[in-house]
Amino acid sequence: MSNKLKTPVAVLISGTGSNLQALIDAQANKNYQVALVISNRPNSFGLERASKLGIPTLLIDHSNYNTRAQFDSEMIRAIESAKIEFVILAGFMRILTPEFTQRFLGKMLNIHPSLLPKYPGLNTHQKALENQDDEHGLSIHFVTAELDGGPVIRQAKFSIEQPTTIDTLKQKVQILEHQSYPEVVDWLVTNKIELKNNQVIFTD
Ligand code: GRF
Repeated sequence: MSNKLKTPVAVLISGTGSNLQALIDAQANKNYQVALVISNRPNSFGLERASKLGIPTLLIDHSNYNTRAQFDSEMIRAIESAKIEFVILAGFMRILTPEFTQRFLGKMLNIHPSLLPKYPGLNTHQKALENQDDEHGLSIHFVTAELDGGPVIRQAKFSIEQPTTIDTLKQKVQILEHQSYPEVVDWLVTNKIELKNNQVIFTD
């Protein structure tokens, strides 16, 4: 599909950006185009990945802002001025204000490394291991004001085979993340999924 017909999305990152890379790698056969990458942290490897490919990048360093509200308004300004409607969180490690989540409600996704509602927040692989869970995986959800609490669109999972380690669990989750996220982003930009009354509607 030619780039003209593709829907631009902004990807927000804080670090390595392996999900960003998966989104970029898959976009040739999808209806979205990664048109802007924003990181809140300098030295995010994801910024390098994108700029090497000629994708516009922006560092909006949260430590330069006194309040979350100021930081979030700057991100809104940047995304709006790039004329982008859809926001994809891919390892973005800042809590967003309700103003930000409201601004992009129904148009913003997050990927989280656990089978939500299990383990919102950090250290999800460690928690799965400590609790001797039988299975583990990822969740892709609409972003609402509740941290890692928006309606889940898709999960992918695997059985945990003991003995295992945090690193093994992380790797297995990431492989599934990279396979799952591009497709769900495609659903979002083609309106195959919608958020209505805090529920996911599949419109097919
Ligand atoms: C992923 O595991 C994602 O689920 C979580 O943060 C991690 C980001 O990894 N939100 P990467 O930066 O995409 O490699």
